[in-house]
Amino acid sequence: MVRFGVGVCAQLGPVVEELGPSAVLLVADANVRELHPPPLDAPVVPIPPGERWKSLESWRGLLDRFVEHGLDRDALVVAYGGGVVCDLAGFAAASYLRGVRWIAVPTTLLAQVDAAHGGKTGVDHPAAKNLVGAFHPPVEVLVDPGFLSTLPERELSSGLAEVVKHGVIGAPSLLERVGVEEPGGFVEQAARVKLSIVARDPKEQGERRLLNLGHTLGHAVEHASGFALHHGEAVAVGLRAACRIAERHCGFEQRALVEQALDRCGLPATAAVEQDAVLQALGHDKKRAAGRLRWVLPRALGDVHVFDDVPDSLVDEAVADACGEAAG
Ligand SMILES: NC(=O)c1ccc[n+]([C@@H]2O[C@H](COP(=O)([O-])OP(=O)(O)OC[C@H]3O[C@@H](n4cnc5c(N)ncnc54)[C@H](O)[C@@H]3O)[C@@H](O)[C@H]2O)c1
Ligand SMILES: [Zn+2]
Repeated sequence: MVRFGVGVCAQLGPVVEELGPSAVLLVADANVRELHPPPLDAPVVPIPPGERWKSLESWRGLLDRFVEHGLDRDALVVAYGGGVVCDLAGFAAASYLRGVRWIAVPTTLLAQVDAAHGGKTGVDHPAAKNLVGAFHPPVEVLVDPGFLSTLPERELSSGLAEVVKHGVIGAPSLLERVGVEEPGGFVEQAARVKLSIVARDPKEQGERRLLNLGHTLGHAVEHASGFALHHGEAVAVGLRAACRIAERHCGFEQRALVEQALDRCGLPATAAVEQDAVLQALGHDKKRAAGRLRWVLPRALGDVHVFDDVPDSLVDEAVADACGEAAG
């Protein structure tokens, strides 16, 4: 079950009690724990902030903590933090005793509209991000926009990129709300775009691929920047590229609306990365199907499809635009 609302985090105690676990362990982002003390009387495993802690070593360490605390099959893990902690704690819960229950309390905008939903859990491997993982949905997600009051500006705008993505996929009115209203007002609307798609295709065999809009080029740019760009910033560049390709390839006419929304959120138009590095990273993208890149493109706002027939020339132009250079 997913609960939304300012103050909903205060229900954590009763929600846990209702589930009647044999033991509870809270896995908390160290920053968040300081800023927002968890409203639950349970042992806490703090996780230092940062993507580099979403690692196999942290996962192993968490399993050791689970053993030390004597967690059994009826135990409950609570993830309290952003996407890093939700992915890490969720994966530890997925793998311990072949799966124990977990609750997500997402505290960043990105995690509230995206990472905490849909059951994908995992950690990074030195060879690639999110290389190791499992589908293991949380039993409860408590989405409390109250957390967002302390979120740094750059984290907020990164989350807004995913909100714009969800707007293009299935809720065009979000494009008018971002950068104008406080995000707390539209978190639920943005999350529900993902929730309804995931409900129809939980294991990403079809429709769920649409959620990769902006991520084909986004991941390549993120990788090529050596992760200097935040994920959401790279996705913004990827979204702009997808809209440009869509304009030429499938008659998309609302590119300006998407660009304006991203501009209002302070999200970048281009990335200071080498074209060659982006093209190389694109070649390694796991969304490649039978040698051709798959692109998720909008025909119109709210009408998004997967294409595998985008000509190389359009891709080259999009990459050149994304890198802020003229196509060669
Ligand atoms: N599982 C999925 O479906 C899915 C989807 C999208 C992204 N992800 C993953 O999510 C991760 C990124 O998540 P993220 O953007 O939330 O980053 P994050 O978890 O690293 O958090 C970003 C920063 O914000 C801080 N923070 C968190 N909440 C705060 C608050 N309320 N106030 C002040 N500071 C706060 C953290 O300490 C951290 O420094 C990536 O690893 C990505 O792969 C997963
Ligand atoms: Zn994303």
